[in-house]
Amino acid sequence: MLLPVSVLLCVLTTLAASVSDKPCGEFPWPSDDYTVNCDYRYSRPSYYDVVPQGRCQVRCPPDTEVLVGPPADGNQGLTDGFYYCNMANGTWLGSEPVCLGFYNNVTMITDESNGIRLVGGSSYGCVELYDNVTQQWGPVRGWILDNFDPIDDAQMEWANLACRNLRFSAGLATKAYVKREWFEDDMWPLEENYELYPLQYHYEPRYPPTVPKFVVSKSPAPQREGATLHDAIDRVVRGPCSEGDRDCGENAFGLCLACEGQQDSHTTSGASNHLSTAIAHACAMYAVTVLLIATAVA
Ligand SMILES: *[C@@H]1O[C@H](CO)[C@@H](O)[C@H](O)[C@H]1NC(C)=O
Ligand SMILES: *[C@@H]1O[C@H](CO)[C@@H](O)[C@H](O)[C@H]1NC(C)=O
Ligand SMILES: *[C@@H]1O[C@H](CO)[C@@H](O)[C@H](O)[C@H]1NC(C)=O
Repeated sequence: MLLPVSVLLCVLTTLAASVSDKPCGEFPWPSDDYTVNCDYRYSRPSYYDVVPQGRCQVRCPPDTEVLVGPPADGNQGLTDGFYYCNMANGTWLGSEPVCLGFYNNVTMITDESNGIRLVGGSSYGCVELYDNVTQQWGPVRGWILDNFDPIDDAQMEWANLACRNLRFSAGLATKAYVKREWFEDDMWPLEENYELYPLQYHYEPRYPPTVPKFVVSKSPAPQREGATLHDAIDRVVRGPCSEGDRDCGENAFGLCLACEGQQDSHTTSGASNHLSTAIAHACAMYAVTVLLIATAVA
């Protein structure tokens, strides 16, 4: 009798503790690549199906400027760069943090056979295609991105296509959090230190009017094996865009994105897993002890 009751008690106690303090467990992506500050007592009224209870902020190192990973969902009011625990389903929103370096227009990744290159950084920047006719590289245009639009998945398909053409495994993001100024020693209280940007508005590549502009098709990105971004280009505008051609025009900044880094292939097992393992272990030890005592008494 004693044994099942104490095990039940143990499980109930740990359950209750985890429900009240950290309904989603610890922040699941600890790493030496960035610092994490959490306020597990944070809460605020719920937006739609998200009930924030606890939040964390990831701080990227000084030689980086962009953070990918926190939830970026305008429809849920989640655009401030914090990671939130959603009490509604006990899940941390967002994905593993990735800090991206600064943009510079001389760093590029090229795939000659697909006539594509990524200008800006080692795994991020803006996509350019090669034009056989003018023998020049030029930007992809007509690719419109809205911060608060739920067509994110469609945008990501274009990013996936471009990234695969560039020999990355997949796209990582088309919008991300850009660091604001902050003092490195001012770690508390947590303040909004990031601003959500479509990467095309953040990088804002500028080109002379003479470069070829590759206006992308309005249909969904082709998914089939071996598809290339070149295949999905509707028209190439050589020379200045005609007036009123908004898809070609200068303020249609282009296809800027981040790809899933090839080198960064390490997988993180969530700390919450470690935690539940630890709890299970503690409970098992407790049960064994109780059993031993019970046996000794008998
Ligand atoms: C938890 O809820 C959020 C917000 O609705 C959702 O995006 C997420 O996929 C859910 N996670 C799980 C594991 O159900
Ligand atoms: C590249 O960056 C430099 C310095 O910011 C700028 O002067 C130059 O115009 C840029 N070139 C292109 C092609 O964007
Ligand atoms: C460029 O043109 C050559 C032949 O004219 C063709 O074989 C090649 O596929 C073209 N490359 C691209 C990227 O369109």
